Amino acid sequence: MGDTSELQAAEFRLVLGHFPTGVAVVTATAADGPVGLSVNSFTAVSLDPPLVSFCADRRSRSWAGIRAAGAFCVNVLGERQEALSRVFAARGVDKFDGVGWVPSPSGSPRLEGVVAWVDCTVDAIHEGGDHEIVVGRVHALDVEGQDGPLVFYRGGYGRFEP
Ligand SMILES: Cc1cc2nc3c(=O)[nH]c(=O)nc-3n(C[C@H](O)[C@H](O)[C@H](O)COP(=O)(O)O)c2cc1C
Repeated sequence: MGDTSELQAAEFRLVLGHFPTGVAVVTATAADGPVGLSVNSFTAVSLDPPLVSFCADRRSRSWAGIRAAGAFCVNVLGERQEALSRVFAARGVDKFDGVGWVPSPSGSPRLEGVVAWVDCTVDAIHEGGDHEIVVGRVHALDVEGQDGPLVFYRGGYGRFEP
């Protein structure tokens, strides 16, 4: 495992897991159909120009499809979409089986029932160890629903209580 021992990896996950995040599904339309993966590394980067980012595991098949497509849609999951988060975190399954979606302006899947969506083109890809830091230029975005967000914290899912 490169420079990181198993123990250090466990400690890294444990400590970083104390930082709560939302969960989003990043989608694109690849050559052989729709692709998508769950991420909790999504964040806003810049207002002018409007940029966002997420970190993509170099081994991700979905990221390979997104990269080739050159455009993606970030679907922010709501508190009732834990099952969707699990499906889009799995490998080797048909992630879109039974999932409703419509194309975003860039042609990427906008998933049914999400809280918000952000439609982007790939602006830059930076080196990030075993991940790549993907910067997206925002071309369209909207809030879709009034559900609270799905929250990821210490390796588990929860809700936001104001
Ligand atoms: C809550 C959660 C957050 C995740 N965040 C990321 C992430 O930020 N970046 C990433 O590459 N993978 C992340 N993953 C793992 C990917 O979803 C998973 O590796 C991917 O869906 C594997 O399928 P693929 O090979 O089709 O991409 C996360 C998984 C979960 C459950």
